[in-house]
Amino acid sequence: MPNQWLECVDCGNELEEGSYVLDCPRCEGLLDVKFGNWCKEKAAGNDVRSCTPFAEECFEMRDCELDTPLFHSTALSNGCDLEVWVKNEVVHPTGTWKEREGLISMLRARQQDVSDLVLFSSGNTGVAVARAACLVPAAPRLHLVVPDKSLRRLTPYQKYLRPPHVQLYGHSGSNDECIAFAKRVARENGYHFEGGFRNYARREGLKTLGLEIALQSIRFDWYVQAVASGIGIYSFHKAFRDLGRVDHCPKILGVQSEVCAPMANAWRDGSTSLEDRHIPSEIAPSEFVTVLRTRNPRDSYRYVQATLRAVGGAFEKVPDSDILAGLREFYREPQFLRLFDEQGVVVGLEAAAALGGLMRAVRSGVVSRGSRVVLNVSGAAKPGDVNHVWIADLLS
Ligand SMILES: Cc1ncc(COP(=O)(O)O)c(C=O)c1O
Ligand SMILES: [Zn+2]
Repeated sequence: MPNQWLECVDCGNELEEGSYVLDCPRCEGLLDVKFGNWCKEKAAGNDVRSCTPFAEECFEMRDCELDTPLFHSTALSNGCDLEVWVKNEVVHPTGTWKEREGLISMLRARQQDVSDLVLFSSGNTGVAVARAACLVPAAPRLHLVVPDKSLRRLTPYQKYLRPPHVQLYGHSGSNDECIAFAKRVARENGYHFEGGFRNYARREGLKTLGLEIALQSIRFDWYVQAVASGIGIYSFHKAFRDLGRVDHCPKILGVQSEVCAPMANAWRDGSTSLEDRHIPSEIAPSEFVTVLRTRNPRDSYRYVQATLRAVGGAFEKVPDSDILAGLREFYREPQFLRLFDEQGVVVGLEAAAALGGLMRAVRSGVVSRGSRVVLNVSGAAKPGDVNHVWIADLLS
């Protein structure tokens, strides 16, 4: 039996990867990487890269360290009436945990002899994948489509956004219009379209965060994360499944912002699929919600819903006032104050939404007081995301 293979989550079809495929050729279901016992044995060595599809190549990529700090926060614990542990993803070179997706996505595309890959992103994933396109030797060329209004977020990362490795396209219009444009670029030029949630490499990449949590000795009651496409939630659970430790997987709290909360709406409805009524017809402008704006994650919702049901999880949706409260709460914690003082790094609004959602879930009793929680501080603010006036009184 090979070390790893692809298996359709929906019909059980097994295949070995022969080309860059996104869907099961038999039923168009979701293709997952299966590892057999190999993953569990390798992971006994406690290096999470052992349990990814491109373990050997990952080890060679010394500029792509994935392991991030996990620390107990007395300040957040006291503020929330919980035992809060922080998984600090703001330390990644491009500021978000999407670095984890970048590396595996590029290794996969290279292995499949993809020469040109088209990706839509409002910034975080885009710049993370662009960095990997620059660092992975002989990686495919990345065609990155970014909404015009998000280009400003990328200014600190210009060095990763240039030919020959990366071609950047600003496009006006909504995210949906930009996605349609990206698909057109792929179709008209014969390039591969990256695939988002359907691309197993994105999921295997974010899975490394789950592996890092699963492979350390502390057991958590809850894992909390801001949600857009659902890649993170699905892959967090998969980490525990792949390690044969599914019983250790914490309950999962997914948080979306109220202005764009299709998954939270469908979850509250008790629905196994995402329907039109769950999707906002338009997104009210909000200074607090610049990135978590995936309106129509139909592809992923049913797998996310099944994951939350399996672990006994929940969804919260938060208004801007909770996102602001969450952001301000971070600045009780000395480590985030220090990060600002020393490097000018501010916690991102995605993580602020996650913390705001956690506080709301404690108030409503969904999360019991005193629970041991791991909070994914999934990214730092990019230029223009956070108005420093919101937190200025806490910084001095
Ligand atoms: C910083 C940050 N946090 C959370 C998320 C949500 O992750 P997912 O799309 O896997 O649900 C994103 C998505 O881009 C992100 O950039
Ligand atoms: Zn299938």
